[in-house]
Formats: sequence, structure tokens, C-alpha cells
Amino acid sequence: MNKTDKIFIAGHTGLIGSAVVRRLQDEGFVNLLLARHADLELTNAAAVDVFFEQHLPDYVILAAGRVGGIIENQTYPADFMNANLAIQLNVLKAAHCAGVRKLILFASSCMYPRECPQPMAETALLSGYPEPTSLAYAISKLAGMQMCLAYNQQYGEQRFIPVIPNSAFGPNDNFDPKSGHVLSSLIRRFHEAHQTGAESLTLWGSGTPRREFIYTDDIADACIALLKGNTSTLELPLNLGAGQDISIRELAETIACMIGYSGAIEWDTGKPDGAPRKLLDSSRLRAFGWQPSADFEGSLKDTYQWYLNNIENAAACS
Ligand SMILES: NC(=O)c1ccc[n+]([C@@H]2O[C@H](COP(=O)([O-])OP(=O)(O)OC[C@H]3O[C@@H](n4cnc5c(N)ncnc54)[C@H](OP(=O)(O)O)[C@@H]3O)[C@@H](O)[C@H]2O)c1
Repeated sequence: MNKTDKIFIAGHTGLIGSAVVRRLQDEGFVNLLLARHADLELTNAAAVDVFFEQHLPDYVILAAGRVGGIIENQTYPADFMNANLAIQLNVLKAAHCAGVRKLILFASSCMYPRECPQPMAETALLSGYPEPTSLAYAISKLAGMQMCLAYNQQYGEQRFIPVIPNSAFGPNDNFDPKSGHVLSSLIRRFHEAHQTGAESLTLWGSGTPRREFIYTDDIADACIALLKGNTSTLELPLNLGAGQDISIRELAETIACMIGYSGAIEWDTGKPDGAPRKLLDSSRLRAFGWQPSADFEGSLKDTYQWYLNNIENAAACS
């Protein structure tokens, strides 16, 4: 791989895509191909074909997709499926036709069965029914992963690499509690509760589910290692997790302490919890040579600082 190779990062303004761009720039890659959603609608097959024919990227990072927390998943399951299926279908086909050397697609830990043995190994995929609250999203991501494997199988070359990150966090996250993921939503809610001096804050569910959070710099590092390394004989897909999980209650207490919120934390157990535990077995990717290096609490502070620096944009979401 050369520093001048053309790398298309689809979804470069998002949480994961922006981290990949930062890391690629840090590594001296100078030929990054970026297109904003407003300029390239990836659900539009004709537009995607024209884009690939014009630009002929050498590598593709597919970090564009429709994502969100439990409320979004339950409210817009059809939109989630439509967008993710179309983006994956269009980008993979165009990448194949354009002779892209390697493509990395971000699948999701939501694809695993709800009652999966922990930590979840890639071999457990499709062995049971995913968590119902994100089923449409999970099936769209399973389809994307399987499309990568199908291209590799049919054309006899392992060029499409599906990776399965666990819950990501970092700069450029969505901090809107209505549509964002749990960690960023908690940062926003505790920050606002602290600002207003609230005596208590009520959070969704029981607080008992356990989640594995991975900082986006670690995801980007894995992505770059996969771009540069020999992936031709790797067993796919590849889990991408930090290796440790914490309960939502512990997460809430950690964030409250970081922000300085001193009120009570209450739990609305009438609201859904989602899957009881989601910890990935990332030994395939570790055997390849990647390992996470981010310190959780330090990364959490950096994410909160990013939120404070960008609070006007984040507030505009609600
Ligand atoms: N976040 C996680 O915890 C997590 C975990 C595992 C896997 N993943 C997967 O990783 C990928 C990236 O997730 P993320 O959290 O970084 O998402 P994100 O922050 O919401 O970013 C998504 C990016 O895709 C763009 N996009 C969305 N729909 C598009 C469309 N139809 N055409 C063109 N661009 C479009 C967005 O642009 P606009 O904002 O302008 O629409 C944005 O740049 C997704 O495929 C997701 O399934 C995410």
C-alpha cells in the first residue's frame, strides 16, 4: 500500500468515518476521497456507479449507514433496513466493478443472537434470533456482512473485509438522547442535569445490561492495520472490541462522576433494556496483530471535552 493510494471513506463525517480520516491523515495518506451525504446519496445506485467510475478508488472504507439507539431502531425499522441494505448493495457492487483492491465494511454486534454465549465469537453468528428491538438493523447488517463474504467466494479473492465493532464512542458522536447511543446520550443528559442542578435523573431500563465500548481511534487503528496487512487468508468476519464490558449502571456512575453531577440516579424499569450482555471475542483480530490501546476513562474525558467544544451543534440535534 502506498501513501498516495486513493482511499474512499464513505460516511467520513460520522463517528467512525471521521476517526478513520484522522488516523489516515496522521499516517500520511494524502489521497483521501471524501463526499458528503448532501453531495453523494449512497442509496442512489446510479449516483454511486458514476462516482466510482469517475474516481476509481483503490481502497474503500464503508462507514456510512443509518444507525441509532433503541428509540430510533424501534421507530424507524423500515428506514434503517432500506438505507443500510441500499448503501451496502450499491457500494459493494460499484467497488467490485471498479476493481477496488480492498473494502472494509462495518457490520454490528447487534447481529449476534440475543442469548449468545459470552464473549461472542464470530462462529455464533446466525445461531439464534437477534435482540428484537434492533432486529431490522441487525438483519440489514447481516446482509452486508454476507454480501462481502459472497463476493469473496464468488470471485475467488478476499477483497471485502467485514468487521464487527462493538458500541463505539468518540468525537463526532450523536449526543441527542432521542436518537443517539447510550454513552453519548448519558454524557448529554448528565451534563444538562449538572448545569440545571437537577436533584435526580431518570434513566431508561434497569441499568443491569453489560456493554463493551470501544473508542473510535482503536477502530480506526484496526481499520488501517487491515488495509495495510495481508488479509487474503484471514477468517472472516472479524470482531472488533475493547475486551472489557461494564454495566450501564457503572457507566452512568462513571459519567456522573466525570461531569460532577451529584444528584440521584433513578431507573425506569418499564423501559426496554435491550440484550442482557454484549461482549465480543476479538481473538481473530488480535491474532492478526491489532490490539486496543485507548484508556477507557481518558477516552471518555476526551469525548466529553469534544462535546463541550461542539455543544452548539450537539444541542441543535434535539
Ligand atoms: N456507532 C456504533 O456504535 C457502531 C457500532 C458498530 C457498527 N457501526 C457501523 O459503523 C458504520 C458507521 O457508524 P457511525 O456510528 O459512525 O454512524 P454515524 O456517526 O451516524 O455516521 C454515518 C455516516 O454515514 C453518512 N450517511 C448516512 N446515510 C447516508 C446515505 N444514505 N448516503 C451517504 N452518506 C450517508 C452520514 O452522513 P450524514 O450524517 O450527513 O447523514 C455520516 O457521515 C455504520 O454502518 C454502523 O452500522 C457503528
